[in-house]
Amino acid sequence: MHGSRPNSLDAFWMPFTNNRGFKAQPRLLARAKDMHYFTPDGRPVLDGTAGLWCVNAGHTRDRIVQAIAHQAAELDFAPTFQLGHPLVFEMASRVASIFPQGLDQVFFCNSGSEAVDTALKIALAYQKAIGQGSRTRLIGRERGYHGVGFGGVSVGGIGPNRRQWGPLLPGVDHIRHTHDPASGTFVRGQRECGAELADDLERLVALHGADTIAAVVVEPLAGSTGVLVPPKGYLERLREISTKHGILLIFDEVITGFGRLGAATAADHFGVLPDMICCAKGLTNAAVPMGAVVTRPEIYDAVVQSSPPGIELFHGYTYSGHPLAAAAGMAALDIYAEEGLFERARQMSQPFGDAIHGLQGARHVIDIRSLGMVAAIELEPRPGAPGARAGEVFHRCFDSGLLVRYTGDIIALSPPLIIERAHIDEIADKLSAVLASVE
Ligand SMILES: Cc1ncc(COP(=O)(O)O)c(C=O)c1O
Repeated sequence: MHGSRPNSLDAFWMPFTNNRGFKAQPRLLARAKDMHYFTPDGRPVLDGTAGLWCVNAGHTRDRIVQAIAHQAAELDFAPTFQLGHPLVFEMASRVASIFPQGLDQVFFCNSGSEAVDTALKIALAYQKAIGQGSRTRLIGRERGYHGVGFGGVSVGGIGPNRRQWGPLLPGVDHIRHTHDPASGTFVRGQRECGAELADDLERLVALHGADTIAAVVVEPLAGSTGVLVPPKGYLERLREISTKHGILLIFDEVITGFGRLGAATAADHFGVLPDMICCAKGLTNAAVPMGAVVTRPEIYDAVVQSSPPGIELFHGYTYSGHPLAAAAGMAALDIYAEEGLFERARQMSQPFGDAIHGLQGARHVIDIRSLGMVAAIELEPRPGAPGARAGEVFHRCFDSGLLVRYTGDIIALSPPLIIERAHIDEIADKLSAVLASVE
C-alpha cells in the first residue's frame, strides 16, 4: 500500500513530541469549553496549562467564535503588503493602547517564533538606520526559549533545542541564566538576591565590545525552561546596562503577555520598559494564530525615515495581520477588558500560589516556584532517567482528568485566568494524589 493508512495516526509528524510513544498510546482532545478539554469519549480534562500557556480567557468563548465566523464570511483574507484592511489597523491600536506607554508600533506575524525573529531583524535594521551598523551581535540567555526559527533558536539557551541544527546564527552569545537553587528553594515570587546576575551582560560587553551588540533578548519570566522567576532588581539592572551601552532590550512576552502575571504585560508587572515586546498566544486567546512585535516609536521612525522612498523593512508574512486573527484578537481583548481578567489573575494568584506551594513536602518535590498565574513544581529526577518521573506524572494526571505540562522533571502550571477556586483545589488535589502514587 502507498502512504499511510487512512484514519491512522501515522501521517502526522507531531511537533515537540515523542511520536513513537504517543502513537503507541495516544491521548486525544476532541472538544473544549471554558476550563475543560474533553476526550473523544467525552471525559473532561481540567486545563491546568491554558492549552500551551495561551488560552487565557478559557476555551471556545462565544464572542471569539462569533467574531471569527463573521469575519470569515465578510473578508476571509486581504494582503497587508501595500494594502490594508480596517480591522488590522484597529487591532494594532488596541494592542498599543493596552501595552506600556512608549511602546506604540505593532508589527504582526503568526506565532511567537516569528515574533522573536521579527524583533531581532528590527533590532538590526534599527541599529543600521541610526548609523550603528557594526552592531550585529545578538545576545540571548542560557535556558531561554524563543521559539524555533533560526533566530530564536540561536538566541535560545535550551541545549536539546539547539543541538540538531548545526552552527546556527553567527555572532550570538548568551548571558547566564538566573536559576540558583543554592540561594533558596520554595520561594514564592521573586527572590531577594540575584540582581547582580544581570551584570553578566557587562562581561559580554567587555568581551565583544558594545559597538558590536545590537540587542539582548530575555523572557522576563522564563517559562518553557521550567518557570524561572527573575530575582528582584534583575530586570531593572538589565535595563540600566543595556541603555548604558546602546543595546536594545527585547522582552519575549509570548507567555507573560495578556494577563499571565496579573497585568497586561510583564513589563507592566515589573515596572521595566523594554525597547520591544514580542507576544503571541494570548493575543487572540490562541483561537487563530497571531504574533506581534510592539516597539518604541523611535525605532519605527528611525527605520522608516532613514530609508530611501519605497519599502522600508524588507520583512513580513503573507498572513501578517490576517483578518481572522485580527477579529479573534479584538474579541479576545474585549473579553480581557470586560471581564477584568488581568486583575482577576492578580487576585487569583494568591489562592493559586497557596495551593501549589501547599504541595511542598509532597513526595519527590524538590522545589516550587510561582509568580502570578504561573507555577512550577520540580521533582527529583529518577537516577539515570531524567524526565521519566515527570512524564509519568503528566500521564497519570491526564488519566485522572487534569492537564499539566512537563519539561525535564519540572511540572508547569498556567491555567486559564477564568479559573475558580474549586478548580485550583482540584488541581492541587489531583497533583497531590498523583505525586503520592508515582515511584
Ligand atoms: C517565550 C516564548 N517565546 C517564543 C515562543 C514560540 O512561540 P510559537 O510556538 O508560537 O512559535 C514560545 C512558545 O512557547 C515562548 O514561550
